[in-house]
Amino acid sequence: MTGSKPLLALCYGTRPQIIKASVLRRALARDFDLVAVDTGQHYDFVLNELLYRQLGVAAPDHYLEVGSGSHATQTSAILERVANLLAQVRPVVAAVIGDTNSTLGCALAASKLRIPVAHIEAGLRAGDRLMAEELNRRATDALASILCAPSAAAARRLEREHPDGLVRETGDIARDVLLSQLPCIPTPESVVPAAASPYLFATVHRAELTDRPVILRDVLTALGSLPLPVVLAMHPRTRAALERNGLPVASTARLTIIPAAGYREALALLRGAAAVLTDSGGIQREAYWLGVPCVTLRAETEWAETLALGANRLVNPDHVAEQLGPVVERLVQEPPATWDRDAYGDGHAAERVAAAIRDWIR
Ligand code: UD1
Repeated sequence: MTGSKPLLALCYGTRPQIIKASVLRRALARDFDLVAVDTGQHYDFVLNELLYRQLGVAAPDHYLEVGSGSHATQTSAILERVANLLAQVRPVVAAVIGDTNSTLGCALAASKLRIPVAHIEAGLRAGDRLMAEELNRRATDALASILCAPSAAAARRLEREHPDGLVRETGDIARDVLLSQLPCIPTPESVVPAAASPYLFATVHRAELTDRPVILRDVLTALGSLPLPVVLAMHPRTRAALERNGLPVASTARLTIIPAAGYREALALLRGAAAVLTDSGGIQREAYWLGVPCVTLRAETEWAETLALGANRLVNPDHVAEQLGPVVERLVQEPPATWDRDAYGDGHAAERVAAAIRDWIR
């Protein structure tokens, strides 16, 4: 640190945030002295260390080893540890990303110290107020002074809700990362041999699925009975839930289960798939940008533009047994994607985030 630029803390802690930190850290370092704080919410090799390596992210300045726990335990550990750190470091602004417990814990820690918060990926709403991520994003928006929206609709909502905040439509950082990594994506069959012939790609990890054993069983059964074979990249949380409930975790003839994949490997499997079935927010947009039809295994999504453009459709996990097969049947027969791909910016979101924070400080 030179001391010649304003000091900015960038706080993150989960897989999707480490991915976004890769481009954010480069863009922010031009204008700010950066303190990178990884809460340690995600600690698995694939969810954490591999991403640092693949995406060329420098090690964080502070790794807080929060780890897993109930929402209360995890969020309060983040709050306490980040507050202790920020009280010493005293950045001019603390930037947080997305909607995880790390996002809220860090935003709250900074706010209690009267350190202004920049929320990156602000203004999204899925509609279910009690869902963990919705709660985190609403609370973080309420705390933030600088609100960087990935879409026009999110920016308009924030302008209504936060007339005092600095609201900018920056676009989505995830697109910046995707564009920068596209040249490094391997072939899908080099990731898993089952991807050599037509297949569907799947991921499931959210509490709404993993914490309901009957629904989780129905989803796995449905994935194994689709018109094309499925490659399922299994998040450690999903594996733990299956094992805890005595449900099968082994591959079958129609369902190849692989461990959670690295960023590049996951993109390779997504790009090569006839369609993707997922409950991940990140994969919904990546599928949209790559032109791969997506089925979101949730009752709602905060990425409403992907639905409106025909790139995405919802299947409520409660009805997965009856609905998933017919939806996928129709999908794989549809002509190739022609939707507009610019609903979430142009791949220069990180620069706009840096400019927004710079302008706010001025
Ligand atoms: C978190 C985010 C979610 C995001 C996801 C991306 C919250 C509330 N949720 O969900 O929005 O889409 O990250 O992956 O913050 N686990 C491991 N290894 C790890 C991390 C987690 O095995 O490195 C397992 C543990 O069993 C843990 C469980 O996953 O208890 C839940 O982890 P947690 O970080 O709380 O939430 P995610 O499900 O990963």
